Amino acid sequence: MCGIVGYIGNRKLIPLLVDGLGRLEYRGYDSSGIAFLDEKKGNITCFKEKGKLAALKAELAGVSGAGAVGIGHTRWATHGSPSKVNAHPHLDENREFAVVQNGIVENYAELKEELIRKGHKFASETDTEVLVHLLEDNYHGDFLKAFRKSIQKLQGFFVFAAISKRDPDMLLAFRRSNPLVIGLGKNENFLASDVAPLLTYTKRVIYPEDDQVVMVRKKRVDIFELSTGNSVRKKTVNVKWNIEQAEKDGYPHFMLKEIYEQPMVAAQTLAKDTKNKEHIVFEGLDKKAEDMIRKARKIFAVSCGTAYHACMVGKYLTEDFVRMPVECWVSSEFRYADPIINSKDLVILITQSGETADTLAALREARAKGAYIIAICNVVGSTIARESDVALYTHAGPEIGVASTKAYISQLLCMTLLSLQIAKIRQKIDPVTLRKHLKTIQTLPAAIKKTLKSDRQIKRVAKKLAKSKNYLYLARGYNYPTALEGTLKLQEISYVHAHGYAAGEMKHGPIALVDKKLPVICICPQSVTYEKMASNVEEIKARNGILVTVVSEKDAHIKKHSDYSFEIPKVPEYLSPILTIIPLQLMAYYIAVFKNCDIVVINPANKNPFTISKNS
Ligand code: M6R
Repeated sequence: MCGIVGYIGNRKLIPLLVDGLGRLEYRGYDSSGIAFLDEKKGNITCFKEKGKLAALKAELAGVSGAGAVGIGHTRWATHGSPSKVNAHPHLDENREFAVVQNGIVENYAELKEELIRKGHKFASETDTEVLVHLLEDNYHGDFLKAFRKSIQKLQGFFVFAAISKRDPDMLLAFRRSNPLVIGLGKNENFLASDVAPLLTYTKRVIYPEDDQVVMVRKKRVDIFELSTGNSVRKKTVNVKWNIEQAEKDGYPHFMLKEIYEQPMVAAQTLAKDTKNKEHIVFEGLDKKAEDMIRKARKIFAVSCGTAYHACMVGKYLTEDFVRMPVECWVSSEFRYADPIINSKDLVILITQSGETADTLAALREARAKGAYIIAICNVVGSTIARESDVALYTHAGPEIGVASTKAYISQLLCMTLLSLQIAKIRQKIDPVTLRKHLKTIQTLPAAIKKTLKSDRQIKRVAKKLAKSKNYLYLARGYNYPTALEGTLKLQEISYVHAHGYAAGEMKHGPIALVDKKLPVICICPQSVTYEKMASNVEEIKARNGILVTVVSEKDAHIKKHSDYSFEIPKVPEYLSPILTIIPLQLMAYYIAVFKNCDIVVINPANKNPFTISKNS
């Protein structure tokens, strides 16, 4: 996830672009940059810096370049480490075109090779740079035509914006499955990743559809279909949000916004980590890594908090698919435990931020004992990513809510693909079965979307449950970690006691707690332990517990015993944790809202620029 802005008109361009980027910094903040056509010099001038926007602002202090058209970008790295050279905008060698992107170009490696063979010289490691070289190749006097032709070569999900020295009167943009808004002014027009940067200037906007090319000029905006070039009718909308609402895309809190980003996050992860929907492609998992995986004796999965729950699901996955032992450790235990681990072992660390102190210490402990280390991480270039032998990246974008939601989904998905890839490398799965799994996995973004449809029902139930002081969460097998993650979400934002248990353990103690005041949340989708969960459910009802269940669609038995029941689409058990957690995230969120709790932003490990504020 990155932020994009663009402007054409008569205002002072540099402060306008920088101010717009400031409103989008929540979308990415590892580097930023702007490019504009300098009216006096007639050239494209570009400034970019590594780090937060403040670094770019310092670089621009005293710069007074005048321009009429420009673009800006704030980055969250996906291809290439966070650095000045990888920061956007990207320019061609002759500095005739400048582009910015938010998204992923899936076929950039092939295109890059082809362009290098033709003599193009690449400056960065990014996927974005291919577009600027394609523009050079395809430009024969018509910028719009060159832009359309170049975009047609790209596969993936992205928004691009571009300017050209050859056509100084226009700003071009393209959208597919990532956000783009056009702001309409008088003798000036704007574009951005969301409406927040536009609201200071205009409330009249256009939301282009997928696969549309937008030509923005001072006095008009035209939209064309990418494939045919045919002009498209525009629909103007009047935005009613203020800037603060706009930054959250209209959601009352970042947490809810991030819960709703999960279908997109799953789709992006699959776009990035699978090819032709048939193969798993982890950038970074090279021959040496494959060799270490092939020879490994045992896997240690080590992490903290939510990421630890992803490790636990990873244990079930890997032991099922690979039949190889996996030991799960919380990092703060592992680091002091003098763990029995050596150079024959593989360590998988999962971390959103890549900076969590205990996980970093665990990494160093494992490294000192000679183990091979794979990190699953959301922040490109973070310390843990750098110090590991291999870093596999999740594609969740920056997570602003303290309560981890979309990062967890992307960790689960990444862990699922990694387990299958380990099975492939160790010849524990045949190609036909692997393809079958990948086909099912591709259905997840739609299944997540469908699961989110229970939102209003969950909100109603949360209102009823919000007065409780204790909550019990029960599940078995793959969803035992879901029960623990459900409690973590609730504790973290609602400040109440919640306890997660393996349901089979209920009779060994916690059953004594069940009475008519206790909400018991049972996660029981279709699974090999469904009948066992059905018995647990009956025991809870026999003690008059308030029974809340998460079940698969068309559930035959458990639903009818439940006081409240939330459905997920039917998926194989190994994929169910990716769906069952969603009602629990929403329930924790709404209980916090009804309890009037702070739903805070900023993850301290994240070093992000947002301050904690009530109800943000
Ligand atoms: O950045 P990390 O994934 O290493 O952070 C680990 C935990 O601090 C984190 O998962 C925490 O538990 C979540 N914010 C909980 O929602």
